[in-house]
Amino acid sequence: MAEIKFENVIKRFRDVSIIEDLTIVINDGEFFTFVGPSGCGKSTILNIIAGLEPVTDGKIYFDDTLVNDLSPRDRDVAMVFQSYALYPHMSVYENIAFPLRMKKVQQKTIDEEVKRIASLLGLGDMLQRKPKELSGGQRQRVALGRALIRKPEVFLMDEPLSNLDARLRIEMRAELKKLHHELKITTVYVTHDQAEAMSLSERIAVIYQGRIQQCGTPLEVYTKPANIFVGGFIGSPPMNFIKGTVKSLEPLQIDCNGITLSTIIFSRPPLLKGDEGGLIIGIRPEDIVVSERKPEGKVKVFISLVEPAGSFNWVDVIWNDIEMKCTARAGSDLREGKEAFVDFPEDKVIVFDEKSGKRLFPD
Ligand SMILES: Nc1ncnc2c1ncn2[C@@H]1O[C@H](COP(=O)(O)OP(=O)(O)OP(=O)(O)O)[C@@H](O)[C@H]1O
Ligand SMILES: [Mg+2]
Repeated sequence: MAEIKFENVIKRFRDVSIIEDLTIVINDGEFFTFVGPSGCGKSTILNIIAGLEPVTDGKIYFDDTLVNDLSPRDRDVAMVFQSYALYPHMSVYENIAFPLRMKKVQQKTIDEEVKRIASLLGLGDMLQRKPKELSGGQRQRVALGRALIRKPEVFLMDEPLSNLDARLRIEMRAELKKLHHELKITTVYVTHDQAEAMSLSERIAVIYQGRIQQCGTPLEVYTKPANIFVGGFIGSPPMNFIKGTVKSLEPLQIDCNGITLSTIIFSRPPLLKGDEGGLIIGIRPEDIVVSERKPEGKVKVFISLVEPAGSFNWVDVIWNDIEMKCTARAGSDLREGKEAFVDFPEDKVIVFDEKSGKRLFPD
């Protein structure tokens, strides 16, 4: 097992800067995910760890060993690529056995190991099949088996589930997580799917414009996004953003689209001085509930769209000219074009500085 450390790593392709000054420690045995939009440099980071791509500057360590100049084969990493190429003419058995054959391991050991890995992955009764006789999810598991059998120090996975249908993806997610609990191999995972990142990982790093925007546990990143980008990227459907202004500092009152968010729930955030320009108020759709009736203090809105999601509905509303996505219980009598009321939970709002984009509250 190994800890992976990036120290001031910079990567440029010709003159284009892709990774700017990346410093991070991925702990021994951790399941760590880089998540971010397409083209933000995720695969590049994995290729750097694997030794397939040199860094422009900075240092990479596995435990205390500087690995910058180590070839991929000397790094003891196993990588699962997005397009997992199995050998089509070989059986499942031989596909999984392949890395051990290359190392000239004895047949008896190969046999034991292939059977152990296949049973771990639920492939025990398919060992004689060819890849074309397998479903996508089974092929994916063979690709994983081929990586696992090497018992690497480090597991690298580049969007390994992206070719699967939604249901299989969720099943494989759970399998990967169980596998990691059993094997405890340091795993660096890359995905653009924030839900996948949240569900699998012990920690995630959100990458955007060549930089880590935030690194933390899924819960930290969800409840305390470092900035507007992270707030909008993590969570689905995305957080609503509404302009706000400081109305008074003592007691703290923030005007948000005509309603006052007050200091009763905020302790005054130390970062908020009152000389900011605008604020951006973030509130997640799952935290705003729409209902037909008006109990005390609720905000009047018009419904523009109702999308049933099974156990509840997503509801788009117009509130004084701004559009907001909210939730409603299933079976409520909400229709497009009708009036409704939302409860605006002040303790769930996240306040950002409009200019810098940084989170001001909660601190
Ligand atoms: N060999 C290369 N030469 C020049 N530019 C490259 C090279 N490889 C990648 N890039 C550029 O570097 C950036 C990051 O690419 P990378 O493949 O790491 O993105 P990614 O986050 O994995 O994206 P995706 O989610 O689409 O897979 C992109 O703008 C890409 O065009
Ligand atoms: Mg990629």
